Formats: sequence, structure tokens, C-alpha cells
Amino acid sequence: RPAAQQNGALSGRAVVVTAGGTREALDPVRYLGNRSSGKQGVAVAEAALAAGARVTFIGGAMSVEPPAGAEVVRVESTQELHDAVMAHAPDADALVMAAAVADFRPAEYMDSKIKKSEDGSNPVIRLERTPDILAEAVQARAAGQPMPGTIIGFGAETGDATASVLEFGAAKLTRKGCEMLVVNQVGRDKVFGQDTTEVTMLFADGREPVAAAGDKSEVGVAIVTELAGLLDRMDQ
Ligand code: CTP
Ligand code: CA
Repeated sequence: RPAAQQNGALSGRAVVVTAGGTREALDPVRYLGNRSSGKQGVAVAEAALAAGARVTFIGGAMSVEPPAGAEVVRVESTQELHDAVMAHAPDADALVMAAAVADFRPAEYMDSKIKKSEDGSNPVIRLERTPDILAEAVQARAAGQPMPGTIIGFGAETGDATASVLEFGAAKLTRKGCEMLVVNQVGRDKVFGQDTTEVTMLFADGREPVAAAGDKSEVGVAIVTELAGLLDRMDQ
């Protein structure tokens, strides 16, 4: 069995894991969301608990139950996720951003339900950017504020004519400034809602990438093994 599960590799560590998708309200009954199931984030949290960590699990919309044994914080919007991360991450040893965070949200919220108009005109939804929570955590740390020394991002990529999935992943790792990026290839029926996945973990310290594939719970253990390695390295 992988090292992380055997030996309490995270005992004494506090880990914040975000998971699931955000929902951005348009009006009291409608939102913009995404297809995240939350499975990979839950699997990371469960693997971290099994390795002996104290886990704060910040969950958005998910099709699975939050991990038993974690302190669970439920959120809906990117703003709520942001506020929960900023409240809990400063006390943690590691932050794992597995949540599928909206990049855009409706620029205006309608206090009452949007109705069909009499004249047949259709509403136009104007969008604005959301805060980049991962980037903000890295920047806060760089500014000397308390934030985990180990921050892990996730990156869903499709690749295109100009660059491969891993090239996009490497660029995203540099852009985000985190210690490790878990890259997976998305598209068609890949990954969303599935029980299995294929990822490549990229490291900021120049270590060789580590690939992991299989059940999301196995990949969760592989991610936690690398997380434990990063934390141990920081202690030296
Ligand atoms: N993330 C975040 N806040 C956002 C958007 C993303 O914290 N507003 C985090 C995600 O949780 C993930 C990482 O950033 O850990 C990368 O998310 P991804 O959507 O792949 O990257 P983006 O920078 O949003 O780039 P893209 O344009 O490819 O969507
Ligand atoms: Ca994004």
C-alpha cells in the first residue's frame, strides 16, 4: 500500500481541502454552475484523514457526501468559498484547491425572479470575473501573511493546436505560484462525474512530474503521498 496510508504520514498536520463546484446566483431561483462532482476533492480529504491529518473540508455543490471525520464547511458561491478559505487556510499546513471555481459570475443579482418579457426581448446576462482564490492565497503568503507553506492547485486542461495538456499545466503552475499542480485532461466524457481519472502532478521545485491513474480514491492517496513529501521537505 502507498506510504501515505500506512504510517500516519500526515499525523499532526492540518490540511484544508476545497472540493465541488461553485454556484453563482442570477436571481433567487437560478444560478450558473458547473459539472464538478466533488469526488476527487473528497478522495483527497479521505486520504489525508487516513494519513492522520486534521482536515477542514470546504465543499461547494457536489454529487457525493463530504468526508466523514473532517470539519465540514459548506459554501455556494465563489465569494463564500473565498471567505471560507481565507478564514481557515491561515492556520493550516497545507491548502488543496480541488474545487471547480467559477471564473465568471453574473455582474448583477436580481432580487426577484427574472420574468419573461411581454415584448419578446430576451435578457442579456453580463458577467464579471470572480476572485482567484488560489492566486490570492499565494499572494497573501508572499506578502508575509499567514498562509500554508504548501499550496496545491488543480488544473483541468484540454490541450489545443498550440500546446499540450502538460505544457498548459506547466504554464499554469508558474502563473499560480503554488508548490504543486495536479493536471488532468478533460473533454467529452472524461473525468467529470467519473470514478476513475488520470492525472500528472507537476512541482514548482523542479522535481520530475509524477503520474497517477485509477480510481479517484487511489489518485487521492497518490496526491496525499506527494503532499506528505512536500511537507516533510519543508521541515528540513
Ligand atoms: N481557482 C481559484 N479561484 C478561481 C479559479 C480557479 O482558486 N477563481 C483554482 C482552482 O481551484 C484550481 C486552480 O485555481 O485549483 C486552477 O483552476 P483552473 O480553472 O484550471 O485555472 P484558471 O486559472 O481558472 O485558468 P483557466 O482559464 O484555464 O480556467
Ligand atoms: Ca478556471
